[in-house]
Amino acid sequence: MKLLVCGGAGFIGSNFVRIRVRDHGDEVVVLDKLTYAGRRENLADVDHAFVQGAIEDAERVAEAIAGVDAVVNFAAETHVDRSIAEPDAFVATHAIGTYRLLEAAREAGVRYVQVSTDEVYGSIEEGSFTETSPLAPSSPYSATKAGADLLVWSYHHTFGLEAMICRGSNNYGPYQYPEKLIPLMILNALHGDPLPVYGDGMQVRNWIYVEDFARGIGHVLDHGTPGSVYNVGGPDECPNIEVVHRIIELTGAAPDLIEHVTDRPGHDRRYSLSSDKVRALGWEPRERFADGLAKTVEWYRANEDWWAPIRSGDYRAYYERQYGRALG
Ligand code: NAD
Ligand code: DAU
Repeated sequence: MKLLVCGGAGFIGSNFVRIRVRDHGDEVVVLDKLTYAGRRENLADVDHAFVQGAIEDAERVAEAIAGVDAVVNFAAETHVDRSIAEPDAFVATHAIGTYRLLEAAREAGVRYVQVSTDEVYGSIEEGSFTETSPLAPSSPYSATKAGADLLVWSYHHTFGLEAMICRGSNNYGPYQYPEKLIPLMILNALHGDPLPVYGDGMQVRNWIYVEDFARGIGHVLDHGTPGSVYNVGGPDECPNIEVVHRIIELTGAAPDLIEHVTDRPGHDRRYSLSSDKVRALGWEPRERFADGLAKTVEWYRANEDWWAPIRSGDYRAYYERQYGRALG
C-alpha cells in the first residue's frame, strides 16, 4: 500500500511509519508541520517521502495525498498541560486540520484512519470504557480530539468515506518528547533533577507500549470495518506515583527527588479501555508494562544524541513556565 501518514514525524507516527515500511513493505508519504514535537531525526533510519506542511493547508494536503491508497492521521497537538495554557493550536489542528484532511480523502476516495485517544471518554472510577461509552472530554485537548472524531464520523455517515477511528490509551517508548510523564521522569531521574508529581500521584493510566499501539492502528487499517471505532488499550494500569517509583528503581535515582506539586486543573483521575473489539480482529499487545518500561529507560540512556538537543532548546523555556515556580 501507499500511505499518507500525517504527523508521521512525531512519537507514535514515527514508530508507525517504521513498522509499516519495514514489516509490511508499504510506501509512505509523511505530511508533518514539524512543531516542537515533530522531528525529521525520528525517521532518519526509515525510507519515506516527506512533505513539510500543516494539515490545515489544503494545497499541501493535495500535494501529499496524490496517488495514495489510505490516510492515517496522527497530526495533533498532544500535551494536555499545553492545551490548558494555550488552546489555540489545538482547535486549529484538530478541528480545521481534520476537516481539510477529510475533504481531501473524500475527493480522493481513499480509506481514512483517525488516531484518537481514550481521553475523549473522560475519567472512569471503575471498569473500562467500551466503544459505545459516551464522550465526556475534560480538557481543551480531549474536547478538540472528540470534536475531530465526530467530524470523521459525519464524513462516513454523510459522504460514505471509508473512515475508522482508533482510540489509544497512554503510550510510552522510544522517541517520546520529554514533556510527557515517563520520558520527563526518566531524564530528570538520570540528571538528579526533581520529579514533579501532580497532586497525590494516585491518578491511574492504562499504559501501552508504542509499538503495540502502532501495530494496533495498522491492524485496524488492514482489517477494520469502515464506520467503526476501535479502542486500542494497553495490558496494564498503574498509578503515576508507582510509575515514578519504578523509574527511580530502574535509574538508581534518589527517592527524595520526588516533589508533589500543584495538581493539573480538571485532572482526569483514571483511564481504562476495553479493547475486546480490536482483539476480536486478531490484535493483542505484546509488551507488559514492567518490561516495556525497562526497555524505555535503556533507550533513553543509550540515545543522548536524540534528547540532548531537545533538553537544551525550547523545551527549557517550556519547563521553566510549567514547573519553575512549583519547583522553586
Ligand atoms: P506528538 O506530539 O509526538 O506528535 C505529533 C506530530 O504531529 C508532530 O510530528 C507534529 O509536528 C505534528 N503536527 C502537529 N500539528 C500539526 C499540523 N497542524 N499539521 C501537520 N502536522 C502537525 O504526538 P504523539 O504522542 O505521537 O500522538 C500522535 C497521535 O496519537 C495524536 O493524534 C494523539 O492525539 C494520539 N494519541 C496519543 C497518545 C499518547 O499517549 N501519546 C495516546 C492516544 C492517542
Ligand atoms: O490517555 C491518552 C493520552 O495520554 C494522550 O491522548 C495524550 O496525547 C498524552 O499526552 C497522554 O495524556 P496524559 O495527560 O495522560 O499524559 P501525561 O504524560 O501528560 O501525564 C500522565 C499522567 O502523569 C497524568 O495523570 C499527569 C501526570 N503528570 C504528568 C506530568 C507531565 C505528573 O504527575 N507530572 C508531570 O510532570
